[in-house]
Amino acid sequence: MARLSRKRTLGVLISGRGSNLKALLDACAEPDFPARIAVVLSNRAGAPGLEHAARVGVPTQVIDHRTYPDRDGFDAALDAALCGADVELVCLAGFMRLLTPGFCATWAGRMINIHPSLLPAFKGLNAQAQALAAGVRIAGCTVHYVRAETDGGPIVLQAAAPVLPADDEAALSARILALEHRLYPQAVRLIAEGRVKIDGGRCIIEGLPPPLGLA
Ligand code: GRF
Repeated sequence: MARLSRKRTLGVLISGRGSNLKALLDACAEPDFPARIAVVLSNRAGAPGLEHAARVGVPTQVIDHRTYPDRDGFDAALDAALCGADVELVCLAGFMRLLTPGFCATWAGRMINIHPSLLPAFKGLNAQAQALAAGVRIAGCTVHYVRAETDGGPIVLQAAAPVLPADDEAALSARILALEHRLYPQAVRLIAEGRVKIDGGRCIIEGLPPPLGLA
């Protein structure tokens, strides 16, 4: 597969804290990283993550979902902002709005998400609490392509974290989050280097790196 010399352009969508955005910004600051963040979009004006982007001069835009009559209108505004910034790959990073099937279809194969569980286990909200309630011994995180089904698209990479006997939701979430910050840039690098191909419901990766976490 051909390597791309030009940096791929990312659009990162956030709603809150933005620690995964920060991890991507830090990765993009490395000279050899094959992508750059062209724009950060937030549906919440007060999202703390916006500060991470502003601090390093990455353009941000607030697109407040409450100012649109319906999901289609909101998603059209997202699409316009992403296209306006020539975004090639959309990275959802704690973006707390459900996207319409139309938007997911438009960006199919060009939009990824990070989720704090080993999918397909524990989709949806509070995945770490779901893992604790289920009594699993191994938890983790997943970077996957986005399809209309929530947390349902082809898996790019996963990383595993142990669940320890004394864990509460905060402790487990922190252990998983530390892995997320390593996994998301690794997945973006693979995609930006053209090493990830979607094959139906799965991804095939050229030169799959050894897994982060337990292995
Ligand atoms: C992360 O746990 C991510 O997996 C989930 O939402 C959280 C976002 O955290 N989708 P942050 O805003 O990146 O700090």
